[in-house]
Amino acid sequence: MAVAISVLLVASLLGSSRACHFPAIYSLGDSNSDTGSVSATFSRVRPPYGETFFGKPAGRCSDGRLIIDFIANQLKLPFLSSYLDAIESNFSHGANFAASGSTIEPADGTLIGAGFNPLSLDIQLLQFQQLKERTNELYDQAKNPDVTDRLPRPEEFSKALYMLDCGQNDLYYGLVTTTEQQVKASIPNIISQFATAIEKLYQQGARMFWIQNTGPIGCLPIIVINSPPKPGNADQTGCIKSYNELAQEFNKQLKDRVSQLRTKLHAARLTYVDIYSAKYSLISEAHKHGFVNPFINCCGHFGDYRVECGKSAVVNGTEIFGASCSDPSKHISWDGVHYTEAANNWVANRILDGSLLDPPIPITKLVSKV
Ligand SMILES: *[C@@H]1O[C@H](CO)[C@@H](O)[C@H](O)[C@H]1NC(C)=O
Ligand SMILES: *[C@@H]1O[C@H](CO)[C@@H](O)[C@H](O)[C@H]1NC(C)=O
Repeated sequence: MAVAISVLLVASLLGSSRACHFPAIYSLGDSNSDTGSVSATFSRVRPPYGETFFGKPAGRCSDGRLIIDFIANQLKLPFLSSYLDAIESNFSHGANFAASGSTIEPADGTLIGAGFNPLSLDIQLLQFQQLKERTNELYDQAKNPDVTDRLPRPEEFSKALYMLDCGQNDLYYGLVTTTEQQVKASIPNIISQFATAIEKLYQQGARMFWIQNTGPIGCLPIIVINSPPKPGNADQTGCIKSYNELAQEFNKQLKDRVSQLRTKLHAARLTYVDIYSAKYSLISEAHKHGFVNPFINCCGHFGDYRVECGKSAVVNGTEIFGASCSDPSKHISWDGVHYTEAANNWVANRILDGSLLDPPIPITKLVSKV
């Protein structure tokens, strides 16, 4: 009886908000979306990461929640478990394959040697494929609920939201190993690999895509402080203009490719998400939005001496810990590379209203074609 009533209740709730009901999120990308893959696989994220929201490190490169956490919240879904987290994961509402330091370009020895991650987008796709295949097999074979209790339902793979958030490390890798001209020349190939990943997900049954563009890499404190813009190469905000132009070029080509994919992948809905504009308007109007200088990161220190957030270094013979600032909510940059929870929250609100989306349909109003 209680079951029947709750089924009715759920049915009526779904009836009233059917449009926004994504049963799951599958996410692929880099540290901007990683909710614990790299922390579980390599070395654990250390304090003071996580201090603001979770009160302890939570596998995320921030003091608190990421944009993807705010999106999950908006869709009334729990925080997304990382596929590689063998300890605490529950994939009943999706899985996160995003891995810090990963690229779209398949990782080879040179890329890994330069400090980037072996879990590139192609590997993340294999992981998704395996999760899907093995989930389907387990539902077919075992009717034992203990086995499937923390797995998604097979029929929900085609109804889920597929989020992609990558590209920043491809640009970064290019910038640290080659010239700006070479990075620019490499963009079409990177975009093709990105498009291939979208098509492969589509062949796997994905229909609803949320494709985030790449942020203003030329505004990251670690870059601006370590290699300040050369004369004439600072934009009106103080970011490195030519680096941001590379991100803009990447985004332009990505947007064009997404339009082409709309005609090719008939049953798909592809939303292009302009994270760049949201982040750039926050950085360029930091004071107006209640933040301090956007080039001063809250945790750790770059410039005259270097101490990474959560690590120690010896400076002038004294050991210094890369500690948090007194009020992370006033900072845009958490550790020089990644954004604070306060900034992520601001950016998430800017994109969730729909104005920076193409087409401009808010996430809660997205409906599939099928
Ligand atoms: C996984 O999460 C779902 C939905 O939140 C819940 O119903 C289920 O009991 C969880 N499974 C485990 C093993 O914790
Ligand atoms: C290290 O020593 C130099 C030279 O005395 C000084 O200018 C600098 O502020 C010191 N740095 C720190 C972090 O104490």
